[in-house]
Amino acid sequence: MIQKWSVDSWRDFPIKQQPTYNNKNLLNEVEDKISKFPPLVSFDEVEKLKSELANVANGDAFLLQGGDCAESFTEFSHKNLKGFFRTIMQMTIALMYGSKKPIVKVGRIAGQYAKPRSEDNETKNNITLPSYRGDIINSIDFTENDRIPNPDRLIESYFHSAATLNYLRSLAQGGYGNLDKIGKWNEEFAHSLTSKKSAEDVIAKIKDSLSFINACGLDYKSLPQLTTASFFTSHEALLLNYQQCFAKQNIDNKKYYDLSAHMLWIGDRTRNPKEAHVEYMRGISNPIAFKVGPSINKDDLLKLLDILNPQNEAGRITLIARMGKDKINELLPPLVSAVKNNGNKVIWSCDPMHGNTFKSSNGIKTRKFDDILSEIKSFFAIHRKIGSYGGGIHFEMTGQDVTECLGGNQQISEIDLKNRYHTHCDPRLNGSQSVELAFMIAQDRSEEHTSELQSPDHLV
Ligand code: PEP
Ligand code: CO
Repeated sequence: MIQKWSVDSWRDFPIKQQPTYNNKNLLNEVEDKISKFPPLVSFDEVEKLKSELANVANGDAFLLQGGDCAESFTEFSHKNLKGFFRTIMQMTIALMYGSKKPIVKVGRIAGQYAKPRSEDNETKNNITLPSYRGDIINSIDFTENDRIPNPDRLIESYFHSAATLNYLRSLAQGGYGNLDKIGKWNEEFAHSLTSKKSAEDVIAKIKDSLSFINACGLDYKSLPQLTTASFFTSHEALLLNYQQCFAKQNIDNKKYYDLSAHMLWIGDRTRNPKEAHVEYMRGISNPIAFKVGPSINKDDLLKLLDILNPQNEAGRITLIARMGKDKINELLPPLVSAVKNNGNKVIWSCDPMHGNTFKSSNGIKTRKFDDILSEIKSFFAIHRKIGSYGGGIHFEMTGQDVTECLGGNQQISEIDLKNRYHTHCDPRLNGSQSVELAFMIAQDRSEEHTSELQSPDHLV
């Protein structure tokens, strides 16, 4: 029997990865305040994303989701946001060319402030303190006071999210992401590559297509589809007392939505069907995702789909696979087949970051560009073989020129890591590595497209 859901029914379930607040009165006051604030997104925008994601689930569009592992108040700036948006748009054009499909763009942004941690405590120079859990909870600074969970940070996160979203909307709607500009950025980018071929080929072909549109008498510069961009936000719905403040009922359809972001996901550590995160997420109507890591089996996966998407609605669920390049070929195929055979409508997306993290010889958490690419290639090959659609990618990335992941065209080495290692949590692809990967995926996808078109199966 299905239990009744309410915005706070999750409170009756076991829960992981939550802070313990000392000042409960202050916490209640803050939650009350935020519940009365205007929400960050609207019902209609959330439904719009769901319908775009339904196109992805049906194989007619492709999902690009990316952003910081953990957003931080210190990295909150004009320059960083603009750089992020620009990088996403450069990737979009490459992917659009490669997949021959519209790209649905979703940032890990404007709310990605809470982090699950593998250790409750952190020790430095023989001092042990509670772990940093994201700027919405405590501070990354290593003092006793800074690590105490502070309810005021919920309000700070709300305003940082609101300002971020405001600027992103302005960039997207104001024409910062128009095709001419992106074309120029990508040309500049291609010049910086040692091996220019793949990017230059793609860029030349995009230019050709635009000239063709013009030759048909259409002025592409006047088409809103090519001068403005739609852009959506997402974050991990980890801190449920914060999320609950945004759970609102739409009186038109009686459904509840979490209006802190367009899309929300459940992390790999908190997706137990008997626990609070799954309980909360089953009752909100946003598009949602959950991480599919090495510890899941196919029964758990199908059970979660049953609980979270009983109507089998396309666009509701994105499965974010994060197996690691060495495990994906063994672990992902049975899951993809099970979902396919069971008839679930989902988007399969590839997070090639979280299964490929390791510590460098100088003790810094990092990831290799080549490992990331390898997992992505395996992901698409698996889907191709099973006859399923690999519909998206999920990156931890920034537009900044950081040195957090190894390799890529800039050949970032272990010695370089400490130069500009700014992340508050996991290592991100920098702007150049992100665009480079998008062009590599584009080339791979476009070759797949060509071989499909030429294959005899298509001729019968
Ligand atoms: C993340 O996306 O930052 C994260 C913590 O991932 P996962 O839940 O897959 O470990
Ligand atoms: Co991460």
